[in-house]
Amino acid sequence: MKITNLLNSNLVGINDLAIDVLVGLDCHPKKISSKYFYDDLGSELFQKITQQKEYYLTDKEFEIFSSFSKPPIKIENKKIDIIELGVGDGHKSKLLLDGYLREGYEVNYFPVDISAKALELLEKNITVDDNITVEGIVGDYIDGLAYARRKTENQQLVLFLGSNIGNFDSVMAKNFLKKIWTLLQKGDSVLLGFDLKKEIEILLNAYNDSNGTTSQFNLNVLRRINSELNANFVLDNFFHYGTYNAEHGAMESFLISKVEQEVSIKDLNFKVEFDAFEPIHLEYSFKYSKKDIADLCKSTGYKLGENFYDQSEYFCDSLWIK
Ligand code: AVJ
Repeated sequence: MKITNLLNSNLVGINDLAIDVLVGLDCHPKKISSKYFYDDLGSELFQKITQQKEYYLTDKEFEIFSSFSKPPIKIENKKIDIIELGVGDGHKSKLLLDGYLREGYEVNYFPVDISAKALELLEKNITVDDNITVEGIVGDYIDGLAYARRKTENQQLVLFLGSNIGNFDSVMAKNFLKKIWTLLQKGDSVLLGFDLKKEIEILLNAYNDSNGTTSQFNLNVLRRINSELNANFVLDNFFHYGTYNAEHGAMESFLISKVEQEVSIKDLNFKVEFDAFEPIHLEYSFKYSKKDIADLCKSTGYKLGENFYDQSEYFCDSLWIK
């Protein structure tokens, strides 16, 4: 697979992690953005989460993709660019790509991820065929899409699967979807994976798996700060807490300090104090109703093509057209 790295084009040279950690840990309540979960180990730990029995999202979306007897969108000239924003392990995308190949399409596949590791993990699951080219893009989603847009005149299908959109609050989600809209041509489409609102018990279990993988995944962000910013977080002094916020309709995860403690982050020349039981907010995973999905589609200017559900209606892949 050809890899294009757009991250090194950061001419200003500001370390986003450093600034965001500095500002976020100086806030009340403290917070660190979930986008910093995904260093190499973080990407591996997330993959491990997707294999936990309680984490139904990946399986349910796989079930939806398995049920496509034909690809969800048909293109007359049988040429398609598929741009996947935030890659999974490739199992779902493979089903879709193979579907197009079986129908005799020429496919350009552009997986985009901020983690080169995630692209590496994906590669072995993608079919090699004369009718498919694969170019992995290391970079931000919108940069990656803009880059792919300039490469061909083909009709495009943008994939944003796995409930990745759940990490965005409603303003961020609208902003992001509208940006994508402006980069697309008329007739292009997006396929979005939404985790549906459901019994809270099921959600709580999915984000508090019994093997403790989610806990490791969250604690990894402190390990990352230790190694990249020379900090001295003691991971054992924090515990993972995942809860459902009914008002927001979101799972939220926190790391909570077990004790009163001070942590120093050398590279930032910064000391952070924690009170006992003080939380750091790490992640939102917003859940959607069918109506939430339709409203978001309408407000961002797309036409809703079709909603695809798994049998138990835990998950929805929604196809929107520009
Ligand atoms: C990758 C954002 C879809 O929110 O379900 C999994 C990340 N966090 N377990 C999600 C995650 C805790 C996941 N997304």
